Amino acid sequence: MKKNVLLLVTILLLGYSGAVAQEYAGSESCKNCHATAYNNWKQSGHPYKIQKLDGTKGPSYPVLSVPKVIGSQINYTLKTGIPNPPAGLNWSDIGFVLGGYHSNARFLDKEGYLIWGDNRQYNLTTNKWVTYVQSAPGKTSYTFSCYTCHTTGPSRTKTAAFQAFPGIEGSWAETGIGCEGCHGPSQNHVSNITIMPSKNVDCSRCHARDRNSGTTTFTWDKRVEWQARTVSGVSTGFIRHREQGDMMLASKHAKIGFTCATCHDSHKGVYFDIGGIKATAKCESCHTNKAIKGHDVAKTKATCNDCHMPNAARNGDQLAPYVSDQSAHFWKIITDPITMFDNLENISNTATPPATFRFIKQDANGISGTTLEYSCLQCHTTKDVAWAAKHAKGIHTNGITNIEPANEIPSAYTLSQNYPNPFNPTTTIKFALPKTSNVTLSVYSVSGEFVTTLVDKEMSSGWHEVNFDATGIASGVYIYKIQADQFGFSRKMLLMK
Ligand code: HEC
Ligand code: HEC
Ligand code: HEC
Ligand code: HEC
Ligand code: HEC
Ligand code: HEC
Ligand code: HEC
Ligand code: HEC
Repeated sequence: MKKNVLLLVTILLLGYSGAVAQEYAGSESCKNCHATAYNNWKQSGHPYKIQKLDGTKGPSYPVLSVPKVIGSQINYTLKTGIPNPPAGLNWSDIGFVLGGYHSNARFLDKEGYLIWGDNRQYNLTTNKWVTYVQSAPGKTSYTFSCYTCHTTGPSRTKTAAFQAFPGIEGSWAETGIGCEGCHGPSQNHVSNITIMPSKNVDCSRCHARDRNSGTTTFTWDKRVEWQARTVSGVSTGFIRHREQGDMMLASKHAKIGFTCATCHDSHKGVYFDIGGIKATAKCESCHTNKAIKGHDVAKTKATCNDCHMPNAARNGDQLAPYVSDQSAHFWKIITDPITMFDNLENISNTATPPATFRFIKQDANGISGTTLEYSCLQCHTTKDVAWAAKHAKGIHTNGITNIEPANEIPSAYTLSQNYPNPFNPTTTIKFALPKTSNVTLSVYSVSGEFVTTLVDKEMSSGWHEVNFDATGIASGVYIYKIQADQFGFSRKMLLMK
């Protein structure tokens, strides 16, 4: 009892001095004194993370659109907004909209439940309605662990204003990420401008996975998670979205003390070209002489970001096998002839039974990078990582000079690792013959049972490639074996359906 009274007195005293538990004043109250910050923020994605609808019309966004040229291949125009409510529903059935500013949008019903089913997620990159969670329609509570990153002043406690929304676990002070979502509650500052709010913002509280309270049992905290995908028959994958903080931790830039605000103007967005990257943070302002001889940017359109921050992370939808809607924040490019499938490690969590997830490998210094399919093949779509690796190493010092003659004769027999690997359902196998040879190339199961023959004939010297289509064959490890005159060699490949 006594203890509680003492605590209460202490809180009151500290409260008066402004050191603890302040109230939220709301972004509108900052507008008059901080007009520039307010106007910039109003154009960025942060305030639009959640919008409460008024029961008559859809959400509203600033009018922004920017044609994006990714590589020299993909030219699309990104626009904010959602053309219509989810199929079969009216805007009056929707209580809140999540996102819709840049990647995708999801919806809470009028009671605050997060709804799922077919056509319940809208992807802005491809202008498509897709299935959210699963086909059968359903709904789930909008939990604290979800809205803790989407609102200002999230709380597990339900206030009177939130009684109307049984689907929402607790409540929040302001819908979307307002000024105080970053600067913390600032009522004291509004009442007395000599009391300063914090400028020390932890962006990774939201821009990284599994940092928020409630999910602290994971062992992969601060690791970058990756998801396999298959797009038009090509096995590919992407870094999961909201991993910028984890990627950055595994980068040289973080090791030398950069924060997000070293590059970003925190009040301005970057999806639309509204100046969100500080002038002093342009790559060239620190890294001079990085032009690549023989890979002239005027001709190739390859900027620093195309190669060093490729769109290797996915939030909404991808635009091509190695191009999605968010950029990597590792900066390092791994120049080995491998794909991301070869650059992963499995880590299990502490649940019973444990679930295993795939993470991007870190080197001995704790640094990760993106592999060449993202940096190079977005433009060089007909090439593979083995080709890219030949030019990538030392690219800034050597330039693109050593372009191989088309029919160069290899000096030795070689059987390359199939690509992609793992694959579903097709993959390419390359081999080199230094002279004309009798070649058989066959596929076997791991237990040695014959599956099929891909090549059985005399072939001329040079590099050759064959396609293996595993449609109708079960998932698993297979062995492919070449016999070219006296040369015999085999390798393993993984079919994953
Ligand atoms: C009555 C005017 C006024 C209002 C209202 C106001 N501020 Fe300020 N604020 C100031 C002044 C004056 C300063 C000091 C000069 C400056 O940095 O612009 C300041 C400074 C700041 C700083 C910088 C602190 C630092 O250490 O440099 C932040 C952050 C800030 N305000 C956030 C807010 C937020 C968030 C709100 C709304 C909840 C708000 N302000 C409302 C006048 C105001
Ligand atoms: C933004 C698109 C883009 C990206 C990204 C890109 N390139 Fe290129 N690259 C081109 C274009 C376009 C040309 C042809 C330029 C010309 O016609 O002179 C080219 C030419 C080349 C050539 C010489 C021609 C050839 O095909 O042999 C090499 C080698 C090359 N790139 C390697 C790379 C490597 C390695 C990477 C990744 C580290 C890369 N490129 C990333 C667009 C790109
Ligand atoms: C996404 C997080 C975020 C949001 C949202 C945000 N700020 Fe900031 N703000 C920052 C950071 C980080 C800094 C420090 C910038 C730096 O160090 O370069 C800052 C700096 C400031 C400053 C100091 C002057 C300056 O521009 O550097 C003021 C004033 C300020 N913010 C006011 C506001 C107001 C008012 C709002 C809402 C309209 C707002 N902020 C929304 C992150 C945010
Ligand atoms: C750890 C913080 C965090 C949690 C938890 C979280 N999100 Fe997000 N969410 C983000 C961030 C940060 C972004 C934007 C940046 C990014 O995607 O990398 C985002 C983006 C989104 C977008 C796209 C917004 C747009 O305009 O395109 C939607 C929709 C979304 N989240 C829904 C959800 C739902 C539903 C949940 C709960 C099941 C959830 N999020 C949980 C942080 C979080
Ligand atoms: C070295 C500079 C630099 C640093 C540090 C940096 N960023 Fe970025 N960021 C960029 C650039 C440049 C882009 C735009 C990339 C593009 O569109 O090509 C970007 C884009 C983004 C985007 C937009 C979506 C996307 O992925 O394309 C988000 C979100 C983002 N950064 C968040 C962060 C966060 C959070 C941090 C800190 C953990 C951070 N960034 C650190 C340079 C940086
Ligand atoms: C309270 C959680 C939270 C914090 C803290 C936060 N963000 Fe965000 N951020 C989000 C969410 C959620 C989105 C997606 C909003 C949308 O566009 O719908 C987002 C989107 C972004 C975007 C892309 C949208 C745009 O306008 O380009 C950038 C860039 C970004 N944040 C940078 C930062 C930086 C830098 C910081 C730290 C100074 C920061 N964020 C702090 C949650 C947060
Ligand atoms: C404010 C200065 C600054 C800016 C801006 C900056 N960098 Fe860096 N960067 C550095 C420094 C310093 C290092 C570390 C150099 C070292 O240790 O050798 C570094 C390291 C790197 C590395 C090596 C990474 C590794 O793990 O080996 C790459 C790649 C890189 N930067 C690319 C970029 C790109 C691309 C941009 C623009 C989006 C950029 N940098 C913006 C200063 C900067
Ligand atoms: C065509 C793709 C491509 C473009 C464009 C490109 N880089 Fe690189 N960069 C690479 C590759 C590949 C490596 C790795 C080379 C190695 O490890 O030997 C690299 C390495 C680096 C490094 C670290 C090693 C070093 O040489 O210092 C820095 C820093 C860097 N790049 C900065 C930049 C900047 C700044 C720009 C824009 C002016 C840029 N790069 C444009 C492909 C590219």
